Amino acid sequence: MVKVLVAYHSRTGNTAKMAEAVASGVRSAGAEAFLKKVENVTNDDLIASDGIIIGSPTYYGLMSAEVKKVFDGSAEIRGQLENKVGAAFTSSASADGGNQTTLLSVLQAMLIHAMIVVGDPMDSGGHYGAIAVGSPEAECRETCKMLGERVARLAKRLAPG
Ligand SMILES: Cc1cc2nc3c(=O)[nH]c(=O)nc-3n(C[C@H](O)[C@H](O)[C@H](O)COP(=O)(O)O)c2cc1C
Repeated sequence: MVKVLVAYHSRTGNTAKMAEAVASGVRSAGAEAFLKKVENVTNDDLIASDGIIIGSPTYYGLMSAEVKKVFDGSAEIRGQLENKVGAAFTSSASADGGNQTTLLSVLQAMLIHAMIVVGDPMDSGGHYGAIAVGSPEAECRETCKMLGERVARLAKRLAPG
């Protein structure tokens, strides 16, 4: 079965709630979802996944240091994440507080790994992934779920055999 890692950092629980919704979307698309805090993510987890969806709180308009640590550690496995499907989600305090640049910082690292990144076509979500301002409301959780579904569906199409 196609495996999708949903890895997140969350200090006050907002991004964690989004992660649960993203993982439910992965499962509803018929893939296996691994929901993990970034603190517990290893390079082997990244290699073992067909899709990797990363959630970070918006910190100074960028991914948090805890999320960056996963990418910094993944330099050791450059080349091994090629063509895996990636996506991002974030929670920020304010609507214009840098949530989109945070998503782009995650997608940028994924592109450097030659991953295939998935955006968000919905007007209700962010163009570059799912966004919550503070705690995710029901509509946002639905957007998160749809992001998980899109990643899982594409990972299934790209999976060998
Ligand atoms: C170190 C730090 C930096 C932050 N920087 C921003 C920021 O640039 N823009 C913003 O809108 N919110 C910022 N916030 C607020 C968080 O993004 C926001 O509270 C978010 O919902 C926290 O997610 P969490 O509950 O998953 O930890 C910052 C919070 C912290 C602790």
